[in-house]
Amino acid sequence: MSEPLLEITGLQSGYGDVQVLWDISLVVEEGELACIVGSNGAGKTTLLRTISGLIKPISGGVKFAGKEIGGLSADAVLAQGVVHVPEGRRLFKGLSVRDNLLLGAYLRRDRDGIQRDLDFVFDLFPILKERQSQDATTMSGGEQQMCAIARGIMSRPRLLMIDELSLGLAPRLVERLSEALLEINRTGLTILLVEQDVMTAFEVARHAYVIEIGRIAMAGTTEKLGDDPRIREAYMGL
Ligand SMILES: Nc1ncnc2c1ncn2[C@@H]1O[C@H](COP(=O)(O)OP(=O)(O)O)[C@@H](O)[C@H]1O
Ligand SMILES: [Mg+2]
Repeated sequence: MSEPLLEITGLQSGYGDVQVLWDISLVVEEGELACIVGSNGAGKTTLLRTISGLIKPISGGVKFAGKEIGGLSADAVLAQGVVHVPEGRRLFKGLSVRDNLLLGAYLRRDRDGIQRDLDFVFDLFPILKERQSQDATTMSGGEQQMCAIARGIMSRPRLLMIDELSLGLAPRLVERLSEALLEINRTGLTILLVEQDVMTAFEVARHAYVIEIGRIAMAGTTEKLGDDPRIREAYMGL
C-alpha cells in the first residue's frame, strides 16, 4: 500500500507547560474523508493547531506526503498543502466574500487555476456567488462556514482540515454542508473533519479517531464505531 498522506506518531503537544495531547498516533490516507471526534475540551483543536504549525509539538512526528512538517511555521505548512479551516470560521471583517476567497489563493500564481477553483466553489455554494460583493462577516453562520470552506479550497490544498463543521448551525444547513464535503471529497481532495457532533461526523467520514482527554481512545471505521455500544451511549445519546 502507498504511504499515508498524513501520519502522526507519538505526538505530545500543548500550551507552554500545559500538556494537552498525549501520544497521539493516527493516519489519514490520500483521498479519504476521515474524522476526529471528541467532547468539548478533549484536545481536537489543539491537534489541528499542532498539525497546521500554529503550535509547536513537544515531541513526536507529523509527516505529510512523506515529509516531516512537525514544528514548521504555519506558512510553511500551508505551502506544503495543508489547510486549516478554523473553529468559528474567522473570516476577514470589512472584506467581501470574493476577496476572502481570493485571500485563500494568495500563495498561488496560476490565474487560470484560481478562476477554475472560484467557479468550482461558486457552483458548490451558489449563495457565495450571489453574495460575492457583501462583507463576508455580515452573512449568516452557515453562509460564513461555506465561505470559510471555500476559502480553504481556493488555496488548492492536498489536505483540507475543518474544525467543527456543524457547531451552532441548524440541522438543514449541517445537512447541506455535509453533502458539500462529500462532493469536495469526490474531486479527490483528502478531508480531515473535526467534530463534537459524532452523528454528523460519522454520516460523512469513513474512518474515525475518538479523542478523550488528549488521548486516542478508539479508532476504526465509522461503520464499526457507530455500532459500538460505548460510542452510542457516550456520544450519540442512544
Ligand atoms: N491557549 C490555551 N492555553 C492553555 N490551555 C488551552 C489553550 N487552548 C486550549 N487549552 C486547553 O486545552 C484543552 C483542549 O482544548 P481544545 O483543543 O480546544 O479542545 P477541543 O477542541 O476538543 O474542544 C482544554 O483543556 C483547554 O482548556
Ligand atoms: Mg475545538
